[in-house]
Amino acid sequence: MDKRVAVIGAGPSGLAQLRAFQSAAKKGADIPEIVCFEKQSDWGGLWNYTWRTGTDEHGDPVHGSMYRYLWSNGPKECLEFADYSFEEHFGRPIASYPPRAVLWDYIKGRVEKADVRKWVRFNTAVRMVTYSEATGRFTVTVHDRTKDVVYAEEFDHVVVASGHFSTPNVPHFEGIEKFGGRVMHSHDFRDALEFKDKDVLLIGRSYSAEDIGSQCYKYGARFIANSYRTKPMGFKWPENWEEKPLLMRVEGKTCHFKDGSSRDFDAIIMCTGYLHYFPFLTEDLRLKTDNRLWPLGLYEGVVSEKNPKLFYLGMQDQFYTFNMFDAQAWFARDVMLGRIALPSQVEMAAHSQAWREREEGLENAEQMIWFQGDYVKELIDRTDYPSFDIDKVNETFMEWEHHKMEDIMGFRNHGYRSVLTGTMAPKHHTPWLKALDDSMEAYLQLLRPAEAKLVHGNQKEVC
Ligand SMILES: Cc1cc2nc3c(=O)[nH]c(=O)nc-3n(C[C@H](O)[C@H](O)[C@H](O)COP(=O)(O)OP(=O)(O)OC[C@H]3O[C@@H](n4cnc5c(N)ncnc54)[C@H](O)[C@@H]3O)c2cc1C
Ligand SMILES: NC(=O)c1ccc[n+]([C@@H]2O[C@H](COP(=O)([O-])OP(=O)(O)OC[C@H]3O[C@@H](n4cnc5c(N)ncnc54)[C@H](OP(=O)(O)O)[C@@H]3O)[C@@H](O)[C@H]2O)c1
Repeated sequence: MDKRVAVIGAGPSGLAQLRAFQSAAKKGADIPEIVCFEKQSDWGGLWNYTWRTGTDEHGDPVHGSMYRYLWSNGPKECLEFADYSFEEHFGRPIASYPPRAVLWDYIKGRVEKADVRKWVRFNTAVRMVTYSEATGRFTVTVHDRTKDVVYAEEFDHVVVASGHFSTPNVPHFEGIEKFGGRVMHSHDFRDALEFKDKDVLLIGRSYSAEDIGSQCYKYGARFIANSYRTKPMGFKWPENWEEKPLLMRVEGKTCHFKDGSSRDFDAIIMCTGYLHYFPFLTEDLRLKTDNRLWPLGLYEGVVSEKNPKLFYLGMQDQFYTFNMFDAQAWFARDVMLGRIALPSQVEMAAHSQAWREREEGLENAEQMIWFQGDYVKELIDRTDYPSFDIDKVNETFMEWEHHKMEDIMGFRNHGYRSVLTGTMAPKHHTPWLKALDDSMEAYLQLLRPAEAKLVHGNQKEVC
C-alpha cells in the first residue's frame, strides 16, 4: 500500500496504533507506511518518568506529569491488554496495583514483542499539521532535536495520540501571588518527601488531589487538606487530613475558605486538572473539549468529524485506559484500511450527540464506568481486537470503588481476578502504606522488603 500514516506520540495510545497495524500485517494485510513522531527519547508517554519540570533538555514543555512512588490508581485487571496479559509479560501472576515502573515495563513488553520500535522517530516533536483540500493530504512539520533539523513530510492520515494530561489548568486565587510558601501544579509534583513535616493544601477533589495527598500522607506530611469546588471526595481520611470548601483568598501563609474557616499552610498544590492543548494543529483540525467522557466532534470517540482522515486517541476522561486505547486504535486502523465505512458527517454528529446526551445524564462514578464500558464494547464489536468480558471488568471497577470507600489508604492491598487468564492476583508482599520503594525490583520482590526501607513517614511501624 502506498499510503502513509503519521502517529503523533508514542504513549499507550500511539503504541496501541502501532500494535494494531502490526497485528493486521501479521495476519497478511497490506498496511500503510507508519511513522510515529515522539518528542521524548523513549516510548511509554506519561509512564516514562522524568525528573524534569518546566522545560525539557531541548527547551520544549516537559510532557511528564507522573511522580515518584506513583502506583496504579485502579486494578491492573481493568486495563490489561486483551492481546497481552500480565502473566505473559511477567511469567507469573503479580499483585493488582503495580507501581509506575512495573506498568511501564508491561507497556514496553508488548511493543517490543511486536517489533515496532523501527516505526518511531524519537526526539522528534511535531510542530505543525496542515491539510490541503487540493491534494487530500496532510503536511506534518517536525523538529528532529537530535540533528536539530526542521523538516516536513506528507501523509494520507494523521493520528493524534499526544495525550491530554500534560498542560496544567492553573486557576488564580486572590492573594496567591504573595503566598508565603510553595505554590505548584500537580504537573510539577515529583517527590512527596519534599513535603515531609509540612502542612499541605491541595486544590481539587479528583484523582490527583486524592493520590498526591495520599503520597504526602504516606511520606510524612504533618497535615493535609484538600479544597473542593463542587463537593468533598467523602473518603474516610486519616486524622491529619481535612476536606475544606473552596479556597477564597490567601494572606501570607493563611488560606481562607468558603465556610469562613482559615489555616496556615507551607505549600499549595493545584490538583486542578489539565487542558487539551494542540499547538501543532490548525483551527480546522483542532479538537476543542474539556476533560469528559464524551467529547463532541469525534465519531466513535475517534474519527474527527471535521476531517475524517484525522483521528484522535485517548482524548476522553478515563476509567478505562490501555484496553480502551487499543479498542480505539483497532477501530481507527480499520477505517484507514477501508474495512469500516464511515457514515455521512450528519450521521456521525448525530451518533456522537446521542452518546453525549447519555453522558449528561450520568450521576455517579459507577454509572460512568458502565457508560465507558459500553463504549469500549461498541468499538470492539466492530474490529478483530480480542473480545473480553467487559461486564466483568465493570464489576471489578465496582469492587475497586467499594474498596476505596472502605479504606482509602488500604484499597491497593486488594487483589482481583484477570478476565483474560482467570487467575486471581496474589496479595502484595507489603501493604501499600508501608511499601516505600516503588522500584520494579522491590515490587516483584527481587529485593527483600527490609532492603527497600527508605524513610519513616506516617507509618506506625515500618516494615
Ligand atoms: C499523574 C497521572 C497518573 C496516572 N495514573 C494512571 C493509572 O494509574 N492508571 C491508568 O490506567 N492511567 C493513569 N493515568 C492516565 C494516563 O492518561 C494513561 O494511562 C496514558 O498514559 C495515556 O496515554 P496517551 O498515549 O493517550 O498519552 P500520554 O501517556 O500522555 O502519551 C502521549 C505521548 O505523546 C508525546 N507527544 C506529545 N506532544 C507531542 C508532539 N508535539 N510531538 C511528538 N510527540 C508528542 C508525548 O511525549 C507522550 O509520549 C495517569 C495520568 C496522570 C497524569
Ligand atoms: N495513578 C494515580 O494514582 C493517579 C494520580 C493522579 C492522577 N491520575 C490520573 O490523572 C488524570 C487527571 O486527574 P486530575 O485529578 O489531575 O484531573 P481531573 O480529574 O480533571 O480533575 C480536576 C480537578 O480540578 C478541580 N478544579 C478545576 N478547576 C478548579 C478551580 N478553578 N477551583 C477548584 N477546583 C478546580 C476539579 O473540580 P470539580 O470536580 O469540582 O470540577 C477537579 O476536582 C486522571 O485520569 C487520573 O486518573 C492518576
